[in-house]
Amino acid sequence: MIIRDKEFVKFIESDKIIERVSEIAKQINQDYKDKAPLFIAILNGSFMFASDLMKEVDIPSEISFVRVASYDDMQSSGDIKKLIGLNDNIFNREVIVIEDIVDSGLTMGKMMEEFISLGAKNVSVASLLTKPENIKVDIPIKYLGFEIPNKFVVGYGLDYNGHGRNFKDIYQLK
Ligand code: IMP
Repeated sequence: MIIRDKEFVKFIESDKIIERVSEIAKQINQDYKDKAPLFIAILNGSFMFASDLMKEVDIPSEISFVRVASYDDMQSSGDIKKLIGLNDNIFNREVIVIEDIVDSGLTMGKMMEEFISLGAKNVSVASLLTKPENIKVDIPIKYLGFEIPNKFVVGYGLDYNGHGRNFKDIYQLK
């Protein structure tokens, strides 16, 4: 499939994603029973993951949506803007951050620092994807969908220059 100027091939099928997301939700239901966690989903990339995950979460919980600077093109600039849109008081809360992908880990590292400095009792990470070969900041990903090679991916919320977020499968750069 061509997205703008690049060719992508199917990489992870929708069924497989949904199955894995549902397993993660079950794990969270067990681990956070009686803890009333606050999920914080990082827009835009995590919108599909967050949506499918939350449909399977059946414990008392809340969800908020925040934004950080997004990637330009295919590279991390490392220039992370401030967190925008967190209106909840997270003091003493059990926070679960929902992210599409932990690539270098720089974004998630910054966010975890920020949530902890705002007084969260605990911060754990649910990330659909990670690219271990590219990691620069070691992030403990408690709930991980898939480890993938260091190749650009789109679909299921992830974009290439704003395109491809709507695909239900994940595609990899050919
Ligand atoms: P990090 O700070 O390098 O971990 O970057 C994380 C962010 O980069 C993610 O939230 C994505 O928005 C973006 N990103 C990293 N790799 C990819 C990719 O392969 N496809 C689409 N976006 C990506």
